[in-house]
Parts: sequence; C-alpha cells; structure tokens
Amino acid sequence: MKILVVYESSYGNTHLIASAVGEGLGEAPEVEVVPVAKATRELVRQADLVVVGGPTHVHGMSREQTRRAAIDAAAKPGSSLRLDPDAEGAGLREWFDGLPPITTKAAAFDTRVDAAALITGRASKGISRQLRRHGLHEIAEPVSFLVTKENHLVDGQLAAARQWGKMLASTMIELTAGTRGAAP
Ligand SMILES: Cc1cc2nc3c(=O)[nH]c(=O)nc-3n(C[C@H](O)[C@H](O)[C@H](O)COP(=O)(O)O)c2cc1C
Repeated sequence: MKILVVYESSYGNTHLIASAVGEGLGEAPEVEVVPVAKATRELVRQADLVVVGGPTHVHGMSREQTRRAAIDAAAKPGSSLRLDPDAEGAGLREWFDGLPPITTKAAAFDTRVDAAALITGRASKGISRQLRRHGLHEIAEPVSFLVTKENHLVDGQLAAARQWGKMLASTMIELTAGTRGAAP
C-alpha cells in the first residue's frame, strides 16, 4: 500500500506534523512525506492514500501574499522565525489548481493557532473541499494541530499527529479488508 503525505509549511511546524503523521502511518509498507513542490502528479496517481496538510493563513489556505508575509516576517531584524527549506515555493492552493481529477482515498489536516476554530479558521476545511472537488474520497474528518501565538507546536501535538497517522493506517487496512471481503 502506497501512502503519500503532502505538506506546505512556512515555519516548519506543518512539516514536523507531516513527518509525525508519516511515522504513525509507518506500518504501511511505503510511506513518503514530501513538500508540495515535490508532490508530482505521478506520485499522487500511484498513491492508495494521499494525506494533505498546510498552515492556516488568514482563516484558510495560504495565498501567495500570505506566504510572502510569512517570509517577510521571518526576515525582520530580531525575528526568531525560521523558514522551512521549502517555504518559498508554491502553496497547496496552486498545487490543487494543477492537479487533474483523481479517484483515490485522502485525508486533510492543518496547523493553526491554539484558539477557538471559529476565530482562527481552519485551512483543513479548504483542503478538504479541494480534495472532494478533485474526486478524492476522504476517509477521515479534517483535523487541526495547534501552534502557540509564538509559532511553536503546542505540547503533545507530535504525539497526536502520530496517533492520527496510526488511525488512518488502520482505517486503510479495514477498508482494504472490506473490499477483499466483498469480492465474489
Ligand atoms: C500571514 C499569516 C496569516 C496567519 N493567519 C492565521 C489565521 O488566520 N489563523 C490561525 O490560526 N493562524 C494563522 N497564522 C498562523 C499560522 O497558522 C501558523 O504560522 C502556522 O500554522 C505554522 O505552520 P508552519 O510552521 O508550517 O508555517 C497565520 C500566519 C501567517 C504567516
């Protein structure tokens, strides 16, 4: 079973969460965790499950201007923010624009500030909408992992991400077994 985890990350938190989700999924034979710039159509086409996550910017998925604002904030003198190695490329929104319709299983996650979702918004809702628009079938509810206002992961979020990855792996195994069971 091939599983692809695709992430967008400005400051590295979503990258860390994506890696932890990948660890949780790890019992599956082939799990690949890649930044959005390296998530080729071919990789997506070959995957049995595609997990997609990005940071919440201005209540939803990032845009070019919000990623530019993130880069500018990190460049300010005295800023403690560090850019993720792949922060300067395109985001998930543009990635989805170039993705053809594809029928495979999927799941969405985001990172957002640790406050009520009504106030922060959730990029995972937009990601989920895009997944469905492209014909992908979600096997789990979209989920958020939390960062502090200073942009550090809240304690316990990596463990929660590993746990979510494990849950996705078990769901895939159950679905595969169900399909086999239903075969004539
Ligand atoms: C331009 C910009 C806008 C943001 N807007 C929101 C927001 O509306 N809601 C929220 O919860 N977090 C917001 N954040 C915080 C990000 O969600 C946070 O930086 C991100 O989850 C960290 O992930 P990363 O380290 O992978 O970039 C914003 C951050 C930036 C840079």
